[in-house]
Amino acid sequence: MVNIDLTGCDSFVKKEQFNEYVNKALAAQKVLQEESGAGNDFLGWQHLPSSIGKAELDDCLSVVDRWLEREIDLVVVIGIGGSYLGAKAAIEALSHTFACQLGSHGPKVVFAGENLSEDYTAELLDLLRVRNPACVVISKSGTTTEPAVAFRLVKSYLEQTYGKKEACERIVAITDKARGALKSLANQEGYKTFVIEDNIGGRFSVLTPVGLVPIALAGFDIAAMVRGAQDAEKALFAASGENPAVRYAAMRNLLYDDGKKVELFASFHPKLQYLGEWLKQLFGESEGKDGKGIFPASVIFTTDLHSMGQYIQEGERMLFETVITIDNAQREVTIPSDEQNLDGLNYLAGKHVEHCNRMAQLGTKMAHIDGGVPNIDIHVEKLDEYNLGCLFYFFEKVCGISAYVLGVNPFNQPGVEAYKKNMFKLLEKPGYC
Ligand code: PA5
Repeated sequence: MVNIDLTGCDSFVKKEQFNEYVNKALAAQKVLQEESGAGNDFLGWQHLPSSIGKAELDDCLSVVDRWLEREIDLVVVIGIGGSYLGAKAAIEALSHTFACQLGSHGPKVVFAGENLSEDYTAELLDLLRVRNPACVVISKSGTTTEPAVAFRLVKSYLEQTYGKKEACERIVAITDKARGALKSLANQEGYKTFVIEDNIGGRFSVLTPVGLVPIALAGFDIAAMVRGAQDAEKALFAASGENPAVRYAAMRNLLYDDGKKVELFASFHPKLQYLGEWLKQLFGESEGKDGKGIFPASVIFTTDLHSMGQYIQEGERMLFETVITIDNAQREVTIPSDEQNLDGLNYLAGKHVEHCNRMAQLGTKMAHIDGGVPNIDIHVEKLDEYNLGCLFYFFEKVCGISAYVLGVNPFNQPGVEAYKKNMFKLLEKPGYC
């Protein structure tokens, strides 16, 4: 399960103040759980983990079997925002860092439709030509331009290369049950289709087929991930001031009201870079509205201590830091002794690299607190499917509670339309010019 350590905020907040915010968070949790707040038609994610059974998991895994038979070695996952970041975060977190260079077994999952770069698209098509590819296209609305453009190109390549019938076997669509161009296209072409329920928004959809199908295709244990989320669901429904989701939501709102407008998600584990991206979307899109909201940013340490470290230590004092800590490394590497010691590193001989990482983390925490940056530490035992499932659900729950404390509807994103309207006009989309 997820543990939270708030001692790094002790010197910034008074106990009575924190207790007041815990009460606000408990009230917000009640509204969320009673489904009586703003956006309450988008709460399908709250009981989602416990609703996933063997049949749902088997349905996701049937795609893996179908494509193993065809010896598919490349899966292009097309989607943007909530229709991509969860799967990307999980696959990056669970994969061997050098899987591509090692040429490890199983299909490689790559992502497309999350940008409109022509070079990226051309290079994707280069890759398709030398692989045996298949495609998962994900769009809840079924109308988003970026994935629609990428899918038109990939579909056309598959049909030209393999013929329409075989292309159909190599395409899976994940979309709304009734609306949108992707749904009608999938029905007409006869693709295997998964439904994203109306009451689950994109950024809360990682534990639906949106995340589970790509994660399973990358070779990871989605049953364990769902188990983690189920345990988190159960634990985080507790109406208690000890509930870590309540405590975290309380603290981040207190810090925000106290002038700490930016939450810096940090981790000392480079595999969590995309979890940072997922968190930025989850909190940014949910809370940034009505002229309010904590601005979410993300860094990977120690890497970014050598780029962003100066600002964090001494720049404008508007930051607090939320560090995601993995308590146990999966592998062990010991620093060797060297007879000549020309690099002066023998003081580390016999120590694990992770020991150095931990000391860097501790040293950073002390320095940043001294520099005026409150520190929230979120721990999980290890980086595996189970714990990622816990983390996904934990942050979704915190986000719902926290946004209600802030006083915004976490489940809409009206601001995202502004750029689209301008773009459609400039592209001369019918109905917009
Ligand atoms: O969280 C959200 O709702 C958004 O980020 C969407 O996921 C994103 O805009 C993609 O939308 P769609 O899945 O409809 O293509």
